[in-house]
Parts: sequence; structure tokens; C-alpha cells
Amino acid sequence: MTTLCLDPYRVPWPEDYPPAEDLLRAAEEAQAFAYAPYSRFSVGAALLVEGRPGYVTGCNVENASYGLSLCAERIAAGNLAASGGGRPLAVAIAGAEGEPCLPCGACRQFLAEFNPSMLVVLREGAGTAVLSLAALLPAPFLLEKELRS
Ligand code: THU
Repeated sequence: MTTLCLDPYRVPWPEDYPPAEDLLRAAEEAQAFAYAPYSRFSVGAALLVEGRPGYVTGCNVENASYGLSLCAERIAAGNLAASGGGRPLAVAIAGAEGEPCLPCGACRQFLAEFNPSMLVVLREGAGTAVLSLAALLPAPFLLEKELRS
């Protein structure tokens, strides 16, 4: 088995942000609401939003028509838009215990819509890994780039 090396994607966590651990805990709390009867793989996501207290969360929601299933990150981003919007500074994603749960390609694109340079916080053992979405998804497809930089 090969071990995934996250080093090329790592960035520092800004000192003026609330602790990355708190954001990841919010994702882990949201994970408890996952509706994943088919894969049995529960995922939670939490967004830290500029100028907004607390976190905006989501969990994966699957469907009997499997392809309709929605990832936790996209539910969280939908919740963000539906609750007034704002610029997400970071997303935390919780999957298998103690292991990083990287966002799928579709979610990288979906998140980039709202801030292509947001930070991505993952569980790494008992600690956190902080990655850059821009490193995970270089050159995303964006319309009206000037609105999103
Ligand atoms: N899933 C997410 O919610 N987010 C990810 O980052 C990876 C995958 C979900 C989709 C599906 O419900 C389950 O995990 C198994 O793929």
C-alpha cells in the first residue's frame, strides 16, 4: 500500500483565524447527520465564512439512484448560499476516523466557485492537515474571475 503524501498541498493556518481544530470538530459533528445507507461512508463538512460567526455545515446525502448522491462539501456550500452567502475562507472535511478525507474532483470545482484559494482542513491522526484548494485544483473553471479573486 502506498501512503498519500500531502506535502505539496500544505499551507500554514493563519493566526487570526479561529483554530483549525474547531472547524474540523464542526465537520465531525455534521458527519453524524450523514445519510449514507449505500456506501456507509459518512462525511461531514464545515465552512469558515468571512465575517460570519460559527460555521456552515453539511453532510453527504445519498440516493437509491446512486449517481444523484451529494457530497458533504456541496451540501455545505449550498447551505452557505441558501443562508445568505459569504466568502468561505476554509473548509474542513471529516471522513474515516484519523484519516484525511480529500475532497473529490467535483467538490474541488464546486468549492472553487466560492473562493478558489480557500484552505482545506483534514484530519491527520490526532491533528490536522491544512491544505490549499488552489494547490489541489490548479486553474479551476471560473466565470467572471474578477468577482472571485
Ligand atoms: N463523499 C463526500 O461526501 N465527500 C468527499 O469528499 C468524498 C466522498 C461521499 C460521497 C458518497 O456519499 C460517499 O462519500 C462515498 O463515496
